[in-house]
Parts: sequence; C-alpha cells; structure tokens
Amino acid sequence: MVNAKKSRTGLWDSHCHLDDEAFAADRAEVMAAIGESLEGVINPGCDAASSAVAVELAEKYPFVYAAVGYHPENLKGIAKNYLDELAKWAVHPKVVAIGEIGLDYYWEENEPKEVQKKVFLEQIDLAKQFKLPIIIHDRDAHGDMLEIFQREVSGVQAVFHCFAGSVEMAKELAKRGYYFGFGGTSTYKNAHKVREVMKSIPRELLLFETDSPYLTPVPYRGKRNNPCYVELSARNAAEVLGVEFEELAAQTTANCLRLFTKIKA
Ligand code: NI
Repeated sequence: MVNAKKSRTGLWDSHCHLDDEAFAADRAEVMAAIGESLEGVINPGCDAASSAVAVELAEKYPFVYAAVGYHPENLKGIAKNYLDELAKWAVHPKVVAIGEIGLDYYWEENEPKEVQKKVFLEQIDLAKQFKLPIIIHDRDAHGDMLEIFQREVSGVQAVFHCFAGSVEMAKELAKRGYYFGFGGTSTYKNAHKVREVMKSIPRELLLFETDSPYLTPVPYRGKRNNPCYVELSARNAAEVLGVEFEELAAQTTANCLRLFTKIKA
C-alpha cells in the first residue's frame, strides 16, 4: 500500500461539504473529530462562494483538500468568465480536482439540458488543461452521462460521486478506468441496486464518501451527516463485499491517492 495509516480508521471521505452552513455552529469540533478519525477529506465546491470556502478550509486544516467547480443546480447567472475564476484556483497546491460538476435532470428549475452539458464539458476541458481529475454529480441523467463518456470525453480521470446508475452503466465506466464513490445511500435498506453495483465494480475503483451534511448512513439517517460517518458506510461495505474492514480501508485510501494525485499524503 502507498502509505501506513495515520488515523484511527485509515479512511478518506472523498466527498463532503464542510463549507455548508449546517456546520457553521460547530465546525471546529467536527474538524477536530476528523483529524483524529480520518486520513483526510475532499471538499468540493458547488459555485464560486462555496469553492472559495473549500479552498479556505483546505488552507486552514492540513487534512482538508478542496475541489472547485459549478454544480449543475447552480448555473443560473453564472459569470461569463467563470472558467478564469476556476483556473486561478486550479493551480492552488491543495485544489486536487474540478468538482462537483455534472448533470442534474431531477430539478425542473435547473437550467436546460443543453446549458448543463455545455458548462459540464467546459469544466472537463479546464480539468484536462490543469491535469486534474473531475468529481461528477449525475442525477437522473444517466443516459446522457454515459453517452458523453462513451463518445465525447477522454483523457480525464473521474469519480462518479454517490453513483446511482445501473450495473451495466458501471461496467461501461469501469472499463474506462473511472472511479465510483459510495456513501450513506449504500447502507439504506432498500438500496439493493446500489449494493449490487458496488459488488460489480473492481475493488481498485472504489471510493468512500459521505456527501455531508446530506445522505446520512444508517443508523443516523435523517440526522446531519458528518465525514466521520464514512466509517459506517465503509464497515457496511466490508460486510456486503465480504472483506476485512482494514483491508478495504487500505485499498480505498490507495485508490483515493491514485486518483487525486495532488494529495501529498
Ligand atoms: Ni456533493
């Protein structure tokens, strides 16, 4: 393995939103718990303001890394020069990815599909320019998403965060070497499909995440999520996959460091 574990669990939370106002009251306590429990966390931005806070947090805490980007829910009124803004952050030593970016066809009030695709592809080009991986949000857009990676996009590394596609889609993406993030939803009683997908993916493409403050794993579903709960999803996954927790922690940490090459572990 790449490095020996430095934390209690040996895990990374590859996707959390510590910039969220849900952490305004007790962020320092949450950070202290992360420092003790996890190897590190990656905080993607969702627009200019949250990307700026993600970078600030990464500057303040050694175990926090940032990603910067525009989430498909936040494209209304996006600045004409938004790519210049992202490019300035992309060279920051602790900005390890462009994200979270993607397609979201779930919310009617989101910008039209063509606008979402355009901004998504522009941000992918930016990531390629700076040799950064991308963190992908795909909600109810599996068909278009798969087509983009089958036909239009290559030469970029990616993780499909909170992957909710089919086993068939996962296989197509895995063939191209893309990674998959799993978190709280994989612990939900009815999420058989998510667990089937997790079992079908090569172990070296698996990452754990929380998407804190959202998608809290069992048994805390309904409460605020926090990065330390990544351990609950990872222990559940170890059971589902029939492997030792420690082995899975070491494997997924190696995966995280292989994908996010700017992390200095
Ligand atoms: Ni997210």
